[in-house]
Formats: sequence, C-alpha cells, structure tokens
Amino acid sequence: MSDSTPRGQDARAAVAVLRAGLRMPVVAAPMFLVSNPALVTALCESGIVGSFPALNARPQEELSEWLGQIGAAREAALARGHTFAPHAVNIILRKTNARMDADVETCIDHKVPILITSMSAPDAITPRIHAYGGLVFHDVTTVRHARRAIRAGVDGLILVCAGAGGHGGMLNPFAFLSEVRGFWDGPVILAGALTHGAQVLAAELLGADLCYLGTRFIATAESAAVPPYKEMLLEAEADDIVYTPYFSGTPANYLGPSITRAGLDLAEIKRPADGITGSPGERHLRWKDIWGAGQGVGAIGDVPPAAALVDRMVEEYTTARADWAARLQQGR
Ligand SMILES: Cc1cc2nc3c(=O)[nH]c(=O)nc-3n(C[C@H](O)[C@H](O)[C@H](O)COP(=O)(O)O)c2cc1C
Repeated sequence: MSDSTPRGQDARAAVAVLRAGLRMPVVAAPMFLVSNPALVTALCESGIVGSFPALNARPQEELSEWLGQIGAAREAALARGHTFAPHAVNIILRKTNARMDADVETCIDHKVPILITSMSAPDAITPRIHAYGGLVFHDVTTVRHARRAIRAGVDGLILVCAGAGGHGGMLNPFAFLSEVRGFWDGPVILAGALTHGAQVLAAELLGADLCYLGTRFIATAESAAVPPYKEMLLEAEADDIVYTPYFSGTPANYLGPSITRAGLDLAEIKRPADGITGSPGERHLRWKDIWGAGQGVGAIGDVPPAAALVDRMVEEYTTARADWAARLQQGR
C-alpha cells in the first residue's frame, strides 16, 4: 500500500456514506451530447448517482441553469419525503478546454457533491472541492495514471477498462483492479461494458466499491441521444464496436455502423495508426455523427424510462446477491 495516502482513509469513509445512500453501487457515467438534466434527475430520484459532462451545458452560463434545475428537483423530492442520490459533474482538465476554469468555479458555487475529472490530474482542484465536503473521482486508463491521481488527493479512482464506451482504456478489469489494489486501498469505481445488475455484484467481488455505467443509459427515454442512435444501439453487437484514435486523437470506442452511416470507409479507419493522415483537428471531433458506445451493446435490448431501468437493475443485483449467498451456504 505504498501509495495509500491519508486521503485514502478519509475517502473510504466518505464513499461508504455515499454508498449507504444508494439503492445499488452504481454511478451513471457522464456522456458527451447524451447526458442531460432530465436523465440525471431521473437517475438520482431512482437512487443511483447521475452525472453529466459540464460541456453538455452550452453556453457556459447554461451550466449554472442545469445545476439549478437539478437542485430544485432535489429539493422537491426531499419535500415529498423521497430520497435523491448525489449528482456529479465531469470536467475535462486540459489546456484546450477553454471553459475549464469557469466550469470549476460554477461547480464550486453550486457545491456539486461529486466532481469527475478526466485527462490531467486534479491537483489544484481537490482541496477546493474537499473544502465544502465534495468528492473528486478521477478517470484513469493506466496504472501510471492511477498512481498519479492518488498523489493529487482524489477520493476515488475510476478504472476505465477495455471495452468501455468513449475513451476506454486497454486494460482487462481483473488485471487493472488487482494491480491497483496492490497500492491503493481507497475507493475504486470500475468501468467498462457493464450493463446488468449481476455484473455490479461481480465487480464488488473483484474489489470495486462502485460501478460506472455509460452505454446502458444511452438507451433510455430521457437521454439526449437522437432516435437513430438509440435504435442502432439496440441492433449492435460487441463486434460492431470500433476502437480508434481517428476522430479525437485519443483512442475511443464507437459504433462502427455510425461511421459507415456518416459516409466514411470503416476499413480505412480500422487501419493501424500509421495509416492515419492529418491531425485530429483536421479530422474533426464528430461525436454528433459518429456515435460512441462500449462493448456492452449486445446486452441492450430496449429503451425504457431511466427509473424503470434502475428498478430492473436493482432487481437483478438483489437476485444475484441472494443466489450467491445461497451458493455459499450450500458450499458450492
Ligand atoms: C457516448 C459517450 C460519451 C462519453 N462522453 C464522456 C465525456 O464527455 N466525459 C467523460 O469523462 N467520459 C465520457 N464517456 C465515458 C463514460 O463516462 C464512461 O467511462 C463509459 O461510458 C463507461 O463504459 P460503458 O459505456 O461501457 O459503460 C463517454 C461514453 C460514451 C459512450
């Protein structure tokens, strides 16, 4: 546990409190052009963490509006005697994100319960979020980045494994989680192709504290994905997912049929990196036409309201726990 800082202990306690307030240990992941206040509100009301990327609220002033709407929904739920799980906002930490500082200030003004940071380590931000009792979870795809994030004082490492939608990593979850557990006993959030409540239990058995699910929530009534995107997700199989740096310069998982639909040559895009010409800037960031999704697509067969989906997953999770307890009792 050489990298386990005192923050690891505090973070464990804080995340245990967070977990105790959830119906199952799931964070709905932030998704560019997909997550919106309607989805986040429905998920928080259903008892799991809802989140969105700050960049989805445009222009920047809209971020405060969105956080106001979510705050009002929370107040209304509590006034009715209902619970409302904490929400999270994702901020991409890199110099090219011109809104980064303004988005951080807006989140601090609204005391956003959880900040999800991606790309650079959040050294300067963590003390400011901790000052009002917020948590910082950081996306990592490599062991090196996990060690670096711990030094930045984060409360949770989001291990984005192979097959995850969007900018997924390349590591197998068994390998990644067990290696990180060798030096970090703080909270771990596991991500990549999870779609079913039983998989959430499996992740806990592996040593994860929470699970992080994106692609499954694209196919919900509330998500901002356009109808053809949702339909393509229902049709798709794991083999349809294409992992390429072609569109953003960083490797990410996309629905292959959306690339073809946009009039591009899939064979050209699948060629190794040395076959790619031009800078990422020249090839455009095209998340609007080229649709992101992870390898879990094959298990997605409907587009329910988010609350119904969470109810179903809680049922799957509860059943899996009971089945597992019965197996242990029978010595199987
Ligand atoms: C369409 C799409 C857009 C995404 N956009 C973002 C984003 O803006 N910021 C971010 O940190 N992660 C983003 N992700 C990654 C997710 O937050 C999460 O890591 C991933 O969805 C988990 O894997 P899964 O989709 O297999 O469940 C995106 C994923 C998808 C599918």
